[in-house]
Amino acid sequence: MSEILMSSAKALVEQSRSLLVLSGAGMSAESGVPTFRDAQTGLWAKFRAEDLATPEAFERDPGLVWSWYQQRRRDLNIVQPNPGHFAVASFGIRHPHCTVVTQNVDDLHERAGSNGVVHLHGELSASHCFSCGATGDQSGQSTESEYPPHCTECSGLMRPSVVWFGETLPAMAWSEAEAAAQDCDLVICAGTSGMVYPAAHLPSIAAEAGARVIQVNIDATALDAIADINLRGPSGVILPELLAEQVGPSAI
Ligand code: OAD
Repeated sequence: MSEILMSSAKALVEQSRSLLVLSGAGMSAESGVPTFRDAQTGLWAKFRAEDLATPEAFERDPGLVWSWYQQRRRDLNIVQPNPGHFAVASFGIRHPHCTVVTQNVDDLHERAGSNGVVHLHGELSASHCFSCGATGDQSGQSTESEYPPHCTECSGLMRPSVVWFGETLPAMAWSEAEAAAQDCDLVICAGTSGMVYPAAHLPSIAAEAGARVIQVNIDATALDAIADINLRGPSGVILPELLAEQVGPSAI
């Protein structure tokens, strides 16, 4: 990691009045949560998304899809936020205008202390009815149940409240994320490949509105071209260094 790059990035953070953190699976990788596109360990390298993460897959085999997500819920119960999550959370407390938008369906940002996290791709801990959309009684979500519980409103099947391929993003989450991108003066993209749209469009929306873009990633990504500064390395190491001493404009 070049010291010049890091100090330029720190200067951008220090000058920022309104900051957007866009996180992806790499943000949680150091907590032990697998990413999606890593060639060896990524979820989509080991499983076929079309068998598990589409409405058609759920219609075909609801038990298979539900039990796969139940396993992901159990896996999530035993991991902890890493120093990257804590760095973002403590920066958010010090900085009055820091919005965290995540593509992750885990709750590690919240467990580290971030408030108001915008979940673009839903949340693994939640469920809603596949038929009527009711969030209904959540008691059927016991991590032991290997078949989707029935909706208390219409007796349809409950499904995990995550966005599947071919589905639109939750409207409220997208409009909050888009507004944050249009209003911010700095975006930090952490641990995302920038390949899944519309989330991957947020840095460009911000850049077109005049914001600067810092990327934190262990590898080159589709976002390299629009990033003003690319900080190569693990988010659990880079973010604490980038954000630690930044006091934010309210304290100046
Ligand atoms: P990907 O798996 O596509 O990308 C993860 C990124 O994290 C890659 O660019 C890695 O290089 C990087 N990375 C891995 N470990 C890292 C670390 N310790 N520090 C920093 N970077 C690291 O995951 P996403 O970009 O989040 O959608 O994928 C976007 C969406 O695709 C997901 O939300 C999911 C998936 O299909 C849905 O489930 C709807």
